[in-house]
Amino acid sequence: MIEVLFICLGNICRSPMAEAVFRDLVKKKGLEGKISVDSAGTGSWHVGNPPHEGTSSLLKEKGISTEGMAARVVEEEDLEKFDYLIAMDAENISALKVIARYSGNAAISRLLDLVDESETKDVPDPYYTGNFEEVYSLVTRGCEKLLDRIVKEHNL
Ligand code: 4NP
Repeated sequence: MIEVLFICLGNICRSPMAEAVFRDLVKKKGLEGKISVDSAGTGSWHVGNPPHEGTSSLLKEKGISTEGMAARVVEEEDLEKFDYLIAMDAENISALKVIARYSGNAAISRLLDLVDESETKDVPDPYYTGNFEEVYSLVTRGCEKLLDRIVKEHNL
C-alpha cells in the first residue's frame, strides 16, 4: 500500500479538504486498493473535531463525503510510516522539520510545488481568509498532479 499524508496547521480546513479530494480521485481511478490517504495537523487545538463547516459544506456540494473524519496531530512516526508527506504551506514544512529533527531524507513536499504553472505555492488558510472555494480549486490541481506522479513512480 502506498500511503499519503496531507498536513496543515489545524487539520480542520485544508488538509482534510486535500484528503477527501485525493481519496475521491484515487477511487475514480480504481486505485483504492493501492493508495491509502490520511491527514494531520501540526497544531493540537482541534484534535477529535470534524472538518470545518466551510470544508465539509463545500465538499458536500461537490459530492465528496467527509464522514467519519476527525482531526489529529502529526507524530514523529508518521514521518517514517508515510510514503508521501504533503504539506499545505512553508510554515507546515518548518514545523515538520522540527518534529522529525529533519536530516534531509524525509520525503516532505509542498502540495503546490507539484503544480509548475501555479504562482501560488502556499495554500492560503481559509480559517483566516474564509475562501474555501479558492482552497478547493488549488487543492484539486495539486491532488491531480500528485496522483499523476504516484501513478508514474509506481507504474500503477
Ligand atoms: P487549517 O486551518 O490549518 O487549514 O486546518 C486552521 C484551522 C485552525 C487554526 C488555524 C488554521 N487555529 O488556529 O485554530
